[in-house]
Amino acid sequence: MSSSSTPAADESAVVESNVGAESASEKRHIRIFDTTLRDGEQSPGASMNLNEKLEVAHQLADLGVDIIEAGFPIASPGDFESVKQIAQAIKTSTICGLARCNEKDIMRAADAIAPAAQGRIHVFLATSAIHREFKLRMTPDEIVRRAVEGVKLARSRCEDIEFSPEDACRTEHDFLCRVVEAAIDAGATTINVPDTVGYITPEEVYKIFQMLRNRVPNIDKAVLSTHCHDDLGMAVANSLAAVAAGAGQIECTINGIGERAGNAALEEVVMAMKTRSDFYQCTTRIDSKRLVPISRLVSKVTGINVQRNKAIVGRNAFAHESGIHQDGMLKERSTYEIMSPEEVGFVKTDLVLGKHSGRAALADRAKTLGFHLEGEELQRVFEQFKILADKKKEIYDGDIVALVQQEISTASGQAWSLVSYEVSSSTAKRPCVKLTLSNGTEEKSVEVSEGDGPIDAAFWAVEQITGLELICKEFRVRSATLGRDAQGEVNLEVEYKGKLYRGVGVSTDSVESTILAMLNAINRIIAS
Ligand code: KIV
Ligand code: ZN
Repeated sequence: MSSSSTPAADESAVVESNVGAESASEKRHIRIFDTTLRDGEQSPGASMNLNEKLEVAHQLADLGVDIIEAGFPIASPGDFESVKQIAQAIKTSTICGLARCNEKDIMRAADAIAPAAQGRIHVFLATSAIHREFKLRMTPDEIVRRAVEGVKLARSRCEDIEFSPEDACRTEHDFLCRVVEAAIDAGATTINVPDTVGYITPEEVYKIFQMLRNRVPNIDKAVLSTHCHDDLGMAVANSLAAVAAGAGQIECTINGIGERAGNAALEEVVMAMKTRSDFYQCTTRIDSKRLVPISRLVSKVTGINVQRNKAIVGRNAFAHESGIHQDGMLKERSTYEIMSPEEVGFVKTDLVLGKHSGRAALADRAKTLGFHLEGEELQRVFEQFKILADKKKEIYDGDIVALVQQEISTASGQAWSLVSYEVSSSTAKRPCVKLTLSNGTEEKSVEVSEGDGPIDAAFWAVEQITGLELICKEFRVRSATLGRDAQGEVNLEVEYKGKLYRGVGVSTDSVESTILAMLNAINRIIAS
């Protein structure tokens, strides 16, 4: 459907949203600030290893994200290292590190983003009465002083500074204006207005942004940004309302993952602005054809499934079930489709590769599926591809995604790896698993006849060798492709010392997938 055939947009909202545009036809550029690697990683159990973060960062850059919030460098040495490595590797997006409003955090963030071609420090300090009184125990004057000092310090290390008054949407308007004005005077170049607890409504967001633009005298010296959480299911609507009211940046995550109910979903805000550009009069740098591949990657590396009916990237997002709809679609697609599946990156062909396919064909197919494979990484995936091609005649896209994911999830220098296993099980006797693992310096073996089946026995065997006692919280097996020779992908979640860890393993044998998934989780435990 052509966008001009949609109902007329509310003129006042469009004029309001077209801030800074020289003519009515000029579209505003909205910056996409992705926080999948920071706020997204705060989803319980969603922690990613360095390899996974680097792969996600590469794909975010290829997607056209303007700013990648790569982590919270003070949080742990691992966080610091991943922000630094992403800053070294990615040159086409700004790399941002988060910091609380204190010297240690700010210095650590500044050091982490130092290698970036374009770096940003994101400083935050809570401003709402609830947070001032109960969390910070600070007066309004102290908050303003701390915000100014923090922004000034950050600015002494970096030109590009974002300031977030945390819980801004529940902050008294007068005080919010005061803090924002002071932060801009101190050198903030972006002012982010977070709805930290997902409480606000679209109408209220609109008014807050309008109010800031009308009342803060130096507001034109900074870009206004929106950061919405989805506790009431309004994060996307709120982000778009902020854009309509003049925000120039949206903070969002792939698949909407994030703290609690998550953040605004990047794919939804981007496609809303693209499909309804007649209304929002905005553009972004996002290459929408890359949305589905990156959605799959993030789902795989975080273990957080995308619901089937999820807008834009869900498996059913373009599936038409009703006969009336199917009939309409056959006559004219636009009767029931406002975007095409190809536009967001669903690929129709499931090209088959096989044992005679070469490295270049594999790299090319992986590229279409959204993965960068080169050098040693390509070689390792190619070796696994050849082993698989010996077991299974036809290799589908799902197999390639599973192989690449296994490679990404396997952190370099990992502690434990599988050497060999043998399993026997029958109706008459208990299952038995003989397992040998390597920890890099030596091999350790056990023979276990415990458990109520071969998978349970494999669990016992891995626990005995590694000496870690795990509580299995979730265990999912699915086939990576169609067909009875398909690879089985095991996704599991285990609890260790009160924390959740994920593991993934792929093989044509489900016992091997289980062992690989357990080792993947155990290696994450050791790394953390
Ligand atoms: O939700 C929030 O307030 C945040 C800030 C750190 C911006 O994530
Ligand atoms: Zn947040």
